[in-house]
Amino acid sequence: MSGMLKNALGWVDDRFPLTKVWNEHLAEYYAPKNFNWMYYFGSLAILVLINQIVTGIFLTINYKPDAKLAFDSVEYIMRDVEWGWLIRYMHSTGASAFFVVVYLHMFRGLVYGSFKKPRELVWIFGMIIYVALMAEAFMGYLLPWGQMSYWGAQVIVSLFGAIPYVGEDLALWLRGDYVISDATLNRFFAFHVIAIPLVLVILVFMHIVALHAVGSNNPEGIEIKKHKDDKGVPLDGIPFHPYYTVKDLVGVAVFLFIFALIIFYMPEMGGYFLEHANFVPADPLKTPEHIAPVWYFTPFYAILRAVPDKFLGVVAMAAAIIILFVLPWLDRGVNKSIRYRGPIFKAAIVAFCISFIGLGYFGMQPVTPVGTWFSRFFSIVYFAFFLLMPFYSNIGQDKHVPERVEEK
Ligand code: HEM
Repeated sequence: MSGMLKNALGWVDDRFPLTKVWNEHLAEYYAPKNFNWMYYFGSLAILVLINQIVTGIFLTINYKPDAKLAFDSVEYIMRDVEWGWLIRYMHSTGASAFFVVVYLHMFRGLVYGSFKKPRELVWIFGMIIYVALMAEAFMGYLLPWGQMSYWGAQVIVSLFGAIPYVGEDLALWLRGDYVISDATLNRFFAFHVIAIPLVLVILVFMHIVALHAVGSNNPEGIEIKKHKDDKGVPLDGIPFHPYYTVKDLVGVAVFLFIFALIIFYMPEMGGYFLEHANFVPADPLKTPEHIAPVWYFTPFYAILRAVPDKFLGVVAMAAAIIILFVLPWLDRGVNKSIRYRGPIFKAAIVAFCISFIGLGYFGMQPVTPVGTWFSRFFSIVYFAFFLLMPFYSNIGQDKHVPERVEEK
């Protein structure tokens, strides 16, 4: 480092712990040396979050949160604003990419037991992030003021009306009106552009602070802090920077390649990322034939529709999300990683994934008797996975977990 730069850094360090923070969280943060590709999704989630914030700021410059102007302002961005189409597609594709990345990130946590002691709070912060992300996506979807924006919001907000006694008042309070209207658009805009993003950034910060306090898990589920050298450095750890900053760049390159392909060649993704009905301006007098939320909500939407009673459907849908919060206390297995768990646990994970994807599929389809029965079956599997976990999770854990990460 040149003398001048060193002096400048010294000056800053005397007033702000820059080098200390850099070392604690990057250059001297020791991560297990055996991370695999499933560990890319955390850094990718940060990348997508930044993409959403930056493109969101540029969209806000030309977007009008007014029921009379919103739809046209989005068309204006797409057709007349320089590079507006790119900014908008980066944001709309980014929303779906966020959920793809976060679902894979959660799946990694599930199979390697990263939610288990001592990382319960890392998981809980993650779950709060997930709920905030759903609120963020839901409110953002109203902003283009298309048919699906309008009717999707109408359906979801009216669900609150099913809650006994307070439901109707609650729905009225959320909408600010008796139907989705300009008042709703204004408040959703405020939440989407500032309130929830702020909460998300703070939560991600806490998520990482919690992770760095306990250290990362890894595909073997070995606690690397158990074996340290005389300087206190974990024997199976490597500095996060430069090793994982460089490795994560590979994930970033692959991600950006796929992301660009979608943006340039199939930004609507056949109606999965941007629904066809949303290219028609919102019409409060004309209900679309088939109302379905965007793909990332459909597993929970299918659970809602699988229950005949509206209120109980809402309860089941909420329970499906809440139950994920208590996962660390449902799993009683001693071994963390799926590599050292019994066949019953492995089969349960497979059944859970099939049921989640199955629910996602049926949640997108119009209601049919067959679809409803499949959704009921998958909902039962979904809940059984969690509720029976205390009983099956500690069966067949005789596989020995190595003490150290072995070189292969
Ligand atoms: C905006 C969304 C999120 C961001 C930016 C984010 C970021 C990160 C980062 C950078 C890491 C460390 C690198 C890695 O292990 O991949 C991490 C780890 C982790 N995250 Fe997230 N995360 C997000 C959402 C979630 C969600 C929704 C959950 C689960 C409910 C979750 C659970 C975890 C767990 C359990 C770990 C520790 C993994 C391990 O050590 O094996 N995260 N997160």
